[in-house]
Amino acid sequence: MYYWLGVLRSEKATNEAEGKEDRPWEFLGYCTRHTWSQHSTETDRKGSSKPEPDESQGLSRLPVDAAPFLPHTNGLSTRAPLLPKGGVTAANQHRDGHIVDSHSQIIVAGASIAILIGIVFVTTFGGKKNPKNDDELSTWSSFIRFFYACFLKPHEKSGENGQQDALESFYKAQAGVYDATRKRLLCGREDMLGLVAAQLKQKATADQSKNQKRIWVDVGGGTGYNIEAMSKFISVPEFFTSVYLVDFSPSLCEVARKRFARLGWNNVKVVCQDARLFRLEDHEGESDESSSDLILPPPAIDEYFADNKSAVGADLVTMSYSLSMIPDFYSVIDSLTNLLSPSGVIGVVDFYVQSVVDLSSRNYTGGALTRHVNWLSRLFWRAWFDIDRVGLDASRRDYLEYRFGTVLSADSRNYLLGAIPYYMWLGCPKKHSTAPSSHDIIERIDAAVTESPYLHPANYTANLSKAVEKSIPEIRSKAYSAALLNLTSNLPLPSFFYQNHHYRIHFDDQLQKHTQFNNEYIYAFTWEDTRVDDRILNLTPSDVVLAITSAGDNILSYALRSPARIHAVDLNPSQNNLLELKVAGYHCLPYADFWKIFGEGKHANFRELLIEKLSPHLSSRAFQYWLDNVSVFSPTGRGLYETGGSRYAVKLFRYMSNVFGLNNEVKKVLSAKTLIEQREIYRSSIRPVILSRIFSSVLISNPRFLWAALGVPKNQLAVIESDYPSISQDTTSDGKILDKKVREQNRGKAVWQYMVDTLDPVVEHTLIGQDNHYYQVCMAGTYTPQCHPEYLDERAHKKLSRKDAFEGLRIHTDEIEEVVNRIRPGTLTVAVVMDSMDWFDPGSQAAATQIAKLNNALKLGGRVMLRSAGKKPWYIDEFEKWGFVAKREGVRENGGCIDRVNMYASCWTLTKTKGIPVEAVTRDSASPEVLEI
Ligand SMILES: C[S@@+](CC[C@H](N)C(=O)[O-])C[C@H]1O[C@@H](n2cnc3c(N)ncnc32)[C@H](O)[C@@H]1O
Repeated sequence: MYYWLGVLRSEKATNEAEGKEDRPWEFLGYCTRHTWSQHSTETDRKGSSKPEPDESQGLSRLPVDAAPFLPHTNGLSTRAPLLPKGGVTAANQHRDGHIVDSHSQIIVAGASIAILIGIVFVTTFGGKKNPKNDDELSTWSSFIRFFYACFLKPHEKSGENGQQDALESFYKAQAGVYDATRKRLLCGREDMLGLVAAQLKQKATADQSKNQKRIWVDVGGGTGYNIEAMSKFISVPEFFTSVYLVDFSPSLCEVARKRFARLGWNNVKVVCQDARLFRLEDHEGESDESSSDLILPPPAIDEYFADNKSAVGADLVTMSYSLSMIPDFYSVIDSLTNLLSPSGVIGVVDFYVQSVVDLSSRNYTGGALTRHVNWLSRLFWRAWFDIDRVGLDASRRDYLEYRFGTVLSADSRNYLLGAIPYYMWLGCPKKHSTAPSSHDIIERIDAAVTESPYLHPANYTANLSKAVEKSIPEIRSKAYSAALLNLTSNLPLPSFFYQNHHYRIHFDDQLQKHTQFNNEYIYAFTWEDTRVDDRILNLTPSDVVLAITSAGDNILSYALRSPARIHAVDLNPSQNNLLELKVAGYHCLPYADFWKIFGEGKHANFRELLIEKLSPHLSSRAFQYWLDNVSVFSPTGRGLYETGGSRYAVKLFRYMSNVFGLNNEVKKVLSAKTLIEQREIYRSSIRPVILSRIFSSVLISNPRFLWAALGVPKNQLAVIESDYPSISQDTTSDGKILDKKVREQNRGKAVWQYMVDTLDPVVEHTLIGQDNHYYQVCMAGTYTPQCHPEYLDERAHKKLSRKDAFEGLRIHTDEIEEVVNRIRPGTLTVAVVMDSMDWFDPGSQAAATQIAKLNNALKLGGRVMLRSAGKKPWYIDEFEKWGFVAKREGVRENGGCIDRVNMYASCWTLTKTKGIPVEAVTRDSASPEVLEI
């Protein structure tokens, strides 16, 4: 029936919008749009626009005054006859001739409406217990009234006030029950308020000036619910000097006035006005208290021609579910750009429907995670909300994003009411007009990304010409080129430029090289021993480090040594999202919360912390990601360390412990106080199971499973096999090629031996529960206060919580080669590439190119540090060819441990002793045509 009414109302509205004459006989309440248009064509062709009433059918056209009203989208209400007899007959004859059936449907529908209206009246106005006011209505009565007002209530005839009359006709009957009925429907309002409050608090902390005058304008504020709800996050009477609630509906404004009188909040002013006409300067500066409760006349004509640049600006503008109700939204959004102060924040929450196709070429939306709404839902929700003149067309959100810079953006669904899509969006002025300006920010970021000298805009041109004189080819980051392209096209900058921190560098999240990871990180913890890194690298404050992000643990350990710069690089956006979350945690969380999230991997209030504290320190993309994945930290789940690709290792160990009844032994190992105790338990009960002959032969006979389970790529396997020539042989001693199955089994044996060489020494030489958090987390799924990575230490938290601790951090979402290629030659001092070189095809040009580019980016004396599954991998010779001197820092031999992880067979440093000619490095053109933006 909702659809029936929807068709009826929206078709009527379409007719009027198109300026058609009111032709109610063309309405077929029960028929589809298709049959309706068929019928229209038919009647037009016959030249008969008004079928004659046929009393004998009992479905004559109702007298106009007796018919229910139909709503109209432009605010004009028109009465229209509901059941046109002639139309029904004609249409049914077009269909299958079931006239009686169709008539019955209409009668049933009509009767249902009558019953519902009856219920509304009886429930609302009848009965003995007549509530004194709307606040006392029961939930049931409130919803009946809401239902009636939204779907049944006829709209009154339009007056002179256009949209205001339309709003009144919709809200008047339900103003008193508005709040009670919108709690569930208007989802995300509190979240949006939490997000803007967090931004305001962050700005207040950063703002050194003592100007504490703050203004908030809530556009389309309705009953003032949001302003009261804000007090959960900020004290409204204390934090804001003035708050303006602007709304066009007198009934809702009345409810709002009562609310603020009850609360005694004198700084809140209710302005009953069309949002298109609201201007702050009409109110600010007036000492007259009666400026609240205003119903202002429209501005005089000469004001239109005056310079409309506002002298006062709002620090906060919010629109909660009002943008979709404002017909002239272009005009209102334009006016908001003038209303917002240069350092202000705008927060919007509203329903939407959009397809990802709409966004495919935009780089400024802040990320498109879960934004796509499927075709059917798009169609349905638009049509559904049309009934109540709520516009879900994509243009509203698009225009908002076009006129402002995006700070945060996230999409969600109201699942309680049929998964209605809604979004929360935080914006700021498109062009930073305060220092640092947009230009300044772009230049700073570019300089930091490329390790080029920062050219201050004041002497930019002079410096640039000097650079040209010296004929140094200018190196620009992809972020810079993307920003330039946007500025040239008058588009907002990519959202990364509008963040409070500039460490995450812009990337295009729609590229296949990023989407291939399916929004999942592989490593929830980093699998490289930081203690050994620290000893070998011995970082100093003058170091410029480039390292693979992974889970970010090692990056944070490097940050503890305060090098001048750290370039964290990962192709997988989710790995960088994880690092961002950790960095944001240092910015705003006390140690206890930080420990719960990353030490235990669970936090009961993670969502609240994300919204209220972490959000101002995250990029839009990272915020979206974690909002979508709050369940990772749920206390009822398995926690952070059983997520991502590496969860398979943790799960496998847990399953095996369960199946083989080893849980107690595992606990004993983890609580062992001495190596002797630990070895004893391992040798007697755990090793015989996990390294048993049965298990080994199952895996060895199926080496592909082994490859997949361990996540070892094919080239790395070849590196492993090359260290076990006697086991992984392909030929017999007399040179005959072995059968394929035997060859595979031999390879399996090599991998098996590799596993044994990894695990046995770890248990023999490191005390897991006390000092080896790499295995502790695999066995227990969590860290402990005695056993955790360095970054989780309370002292580390103290150091990295300092304001400037991450000033030098840059997070790149790209391939190492792409980043290295855009770094100024001779500037890096350290590059940590983990085991990534093992992944190249042996002898490949790609490996040689990467080595050459590393040489180019490194300073003379700079070092590459890597680990390999091989004792002397093939590419070491390649490094030596490209001007490096190789040193093997450690090798796994004779049952010893190379480090606490012991997963790799060797660890190397390669020191640049010779530069190579720049032209030997292939640098991609930075022209916009080839940019991946
Ligand atoms: C769905 S209500 C939302 C109210 C409130 N923001 C909330 O979240 O509860 C939409 C509001 O927009 C207001 N509105 C619609 N058009 C308007 C206009 N042109 N100027 C001011 N307010 C308008 C309506 O009166 C209504 O209060």
